[in-house]
Amino acid sequence: MDCLRDWPEAVVRVQSLSDSGAATIPDRYVKPPSERASVDPGDMVRIPVVDLAMLTDDVANCEATVMAIADACRHWGFFQAVNHGVSPGLMRRAREVWRGFFHLPMEEKQRYANSPKTYEGYGSRLGIEKGAILDWGDYFFLHFLPLCLMDHDKWPAFPPALRETNDEYGAALTKLCRRLMRAMSIGLGLDAARLPMAFDDEGVCMRVNFYPRCPQPELTLGLSAHSDPGGMTVLLVDDHVTGLQVRKNDSWITVQPVPDAFIVNVGDQIQVLSNAAYKSVEHRVMVNAAAERLSMAFFYNPKSDVPIGPIRELVTCDRPALYRSMTFDDYRLYIRKKGPRGKSQVHSLEAA
Ligand code: OGA
Ligand code: NI
Repeated sequence: MDCLRDWPEAVVRVQSLSDSGAATIPDRYVKPPSERASVDPGDMVRIPVVDLAMLTDDVANCEATVMAIADACRHWGFFQAVNHGVSPGLMRRAREVWRGFFHLPMEEKQRYANSPKTYEGYGSRLGIEKGAILDWGDYFFLHFLPLCLMDHDKWPAFPPALRETNDEYGAALTKLCRRLMRAMSIGLGLDAARLPMAFDDEGVCMRVNFYPRCPQPELTLGLSAHSDPGGMTVLLVDDHVTGLQVRKNDSWITVQPVPDAFIVNVGDQIQVLSNAAYKSVEHRVMVNAAAERLSMAFFYNPKSDVPIGPIRELVTCDRPALYRSMTFDDYRLYIRKKGPRGKSQVHSLEAA
């Protein structure tokens, strides 16, 4: 994959632009007016909040919780999970070590500079199209599973607690995702093990997003509209700065984070497997002049080289297969080359 060997242009760290104190942003970050975000002050709609306290490992016996999850996945593609079992202390420590990383001197962070070949490490763009309009954010991308892709040496060595904390965080979130997958499977009318079986094995990775302060936030976005290409995403957002917007029909809803909650959303692979019963919904991130924002997007994906198509039990005469199959390895090449592009990729899989 030679075209993915390197970035098409010199990499500029958004944090350096922000730290320069300039009053305007470079043209490269200015979005066309139709893509810019605004907050609708009258918008009081909220994404669903689902209490997972009753969701035990024996998910078949947690009907009300399963129904609430399934309902959110069908109608919103998004929900906030409370009482999810991950300790708030671990969530706070994870955010703290990553904030510490982004506040290290630039030359320390540059040691982890990434390339588009695997995206692992410290990055400042998604996509390799020369001349693309860029997003106002830097990130760190890493793998947890499969173990053959997990490499502690590629994770930041500083702050000193980062690797251990990140390991602990990865293990806790993987457990949570397994539980959610079983619930989502039952919510589709299948056995708890059916959706996990379609994943075959787990691919688990994480992107920690860092959105520096922006002098002209109304002209740009921290992350352009996209749906997540993978299976499911469990997002930990900043506890004091909002920014995430979720599409609901033709409007954008600003998520008001519930303290200590996770934001869970369906990705394209689960939309495909569920034959569109569950929706992978577009979302985007606004930036802020007053405050930086950190978020941790934990991606729970299928084994990357198995074909993913609608689960056979969900394909009927009344509801034929809506998508053709593709491996996740092939699927994610699209966002890796083109960057975030709304839901255009999942549409490209629609069966003729
Ligand atoms: C993502 C994402 C949202 C956020 O990383 O895919 O949608 O709030 N992040 O940073
Ligand atoms: Ni996303």
